[in-house]
Amino acid sequence: MPCFSQCCASYPRGMIYIAPSILAADYAALGEDVRKVANADLIHVDIMDGHFVPNLSFGPDVTKAVNGVTEQFLDMHLMIEQPERWFETYAAAGGDRMVFHVEAVDDHVAAARQCKELGVQSGFAIKPGTAVEPYLDSLEHFDEVMVMSVEPGFGGQKFMPEVLSKVMTLRDAIAQQGLDTIIGIDGGISGETIAQAAAAGVDAFVAGSAVFGADNPAEAVERLRELAREARAS
Ligand code: DX5
Ligand code: ZN
Repeated sequence: MPCFSQCCASYPRGMIYIAPSILAADYAALGEDVRKVANADLIHVDIMDGHFVPNLSFGPDVTKAVNGVTEQFLDMHLMIEQPERWFETYAAAGGDRMVFHVEAVDDHVAAARQCKELGVQSGFAIKPGTAVEPYLDSLEHFDEVMVMSVEPGFGGQKFMPEVLSKVMTLRDAIAQQGLDTIIGIDGGISGETIAQAAAAGVDAFVAGSAVFGADNPAEAVERLRELAREARAS
């Protein structure tokens, strides 16, 4: 089990992290669904405000409830306006990493510093239509960059392979700068799409419908991990 703890100076790039998105879970049996994916590396929590994205999901109370049933690392995907106003709340609710959208903040580095001051990790997410180049000189401030491979707002959408060029750009920049920043991908990840993302350099794979839509979510996690590993090795 990889260590994501704050006490570690770094955690290994080059590993495969599978992150089930509870957006696709059964909300009437959320605790049970979270326990089903105890073999996942982290849990992806999609927060939507109906403004930054045209959908609403859940908030701090549900996050707290999820945190109460698992020891797993909670990656908070904040699809909300003014995310800085919520870092403290979601950190208190058990969020371990605040992944906010660069499109939603004026100063993404200041937002990352705010996360560090709260004792949580930081990441930025980037929509399919947003270029990554303007952010390459600030990667050192982030634990994760999450490349959106669908327009944020809804689960079950089709993977957009054109975003993989951003993954490759990030991979090269991270290597050149000697950083530990991991690259995440979010949207449309399944048995059909994970290999190409892994080959491009993704470390952390968010999967909602491919995990919770499966008859056996734990098996789906293992299968995705295996496919990603194979693609990395080849
Ligand atoms: C979409 C969310 C995703 C979503 C992914 O805006 O950020 O995390 O849950 O769902 P799938 O894996 O079904 O595309
Ligand atoms: Zn997400």
